[in-house]
Amino acid sequence: PDPAGMALSLPKAELHIHIEGALEPELAFECARRNGILLPYADVDDLRRRYDFSNLQSFLDLYYTGMNVLRTTRDFTELADSYLARAREQGVRHAEIFFDPQAHTLRGVELSTVLDGLEASLATSRERFGISTRLIACFLRDRGPEEAMATFDALLPHADRITGVGLDSAESGYPPDAFAAVFSRAREAGLSLVAHAGEEGPPEYVWQALDVLGVDRVDHGIRAVEDATLLRRIARDQVPLTVCPLSNVRLRCVSTLDQHCLPHLVDTGVSATLNSDDPAYFGGYVADNYSAVQRELGFGDTALREFAANSIRASFLGQDEREQLL
Ligand code: HPA
Ligand code: ZN
Repeated sequence: PDPAGMALSLPKAELHIHIEGALEPELAFECARRNGILLPYADVDDLRRRYDFSNLQSFLDLYYTGMNVLRTTRDFTELADSYLARAREQGVRHAEIFFDPQAHTLRGVELSTVLDGLEASLATSRERFGISTRLIACFLRDRGPEEAMATFDALLPHADRITGVGLDSAESGYPPDAFAAVFSRAREAGLSLVAHAGEEGPPEYVWQALDVLGVDRVDHGIRAVEDATLLRRIARDQVPLTVCPLSNVRLRCVSTLDQHCLPHLVDTGVSATLNSDDPAYFGGYVADNYSAVQRELGFGDTALREFAANSIRASFLGQDEREQLL
């Protein structure tokens, strides 16, 4: 059996994908041209050459600059279509897609433009790409809890269009517990809850995501391996982690892939899933992450099947929909 084929063909869910991080340079330049925006890069190759990051912030600087070209519903529709086309080739059958409302509203793009644009693509994702989809709105933790609350108020009239809320952007210095009130309101509104924690930030942030925010899944969570009690808790309660191996290497959270803690997570009984995070920036879509851990960490076919099954079990689909995919 062809290992790359296995990684590609396994039916899987992708649970940690920032749609703005799926903006390939070609589409960025096309949107820039259409919208009369000058990108501060000579061309597609020049932009790609800058995808050399020293930490999370160095990536976020480029990520927020790049998405400035997204202005119209059409831009967001083409962005989602571009992701779905790639995801289909990678065996994705279900995707829970993050977007960053504040990253758009702060630069004058209406929330309805973002949602209408994304939905024009996602509404027919099943028919066109064989992929069911959900949206998760993330708060930018470095913009603080008050702005998160105002963003939640703006989202509330659209609550039926999203399945959950999350927390992302710069982590160090921005602990999850500051967002307790907005996450509590999101729970009352019937939304699912996730948060980035333990990507660059300490194990304490993962504890807070669990105990203060009450998240259903932890995004990244890799620094939980530094705290044995925390790791046992995550394993005992089967709180899924959305691990993004290629992202962790590109953002230097992990020095090389063969040093990644994924084997330790698996050995401890954690429900780990594999995801791409920002596939246009980190050198691979989701199946590329499956192949990479197979190649560099020695995971076999059985382990890859388990990652894929975990992803479906950890999704926010109803039980019937999950069973159809398993
Ligand atoms: N971490 C935090 N925020 C993000 C990321 C990430 O990996 N990608 C896009 N926003
Ligand atoms: Zn992320």
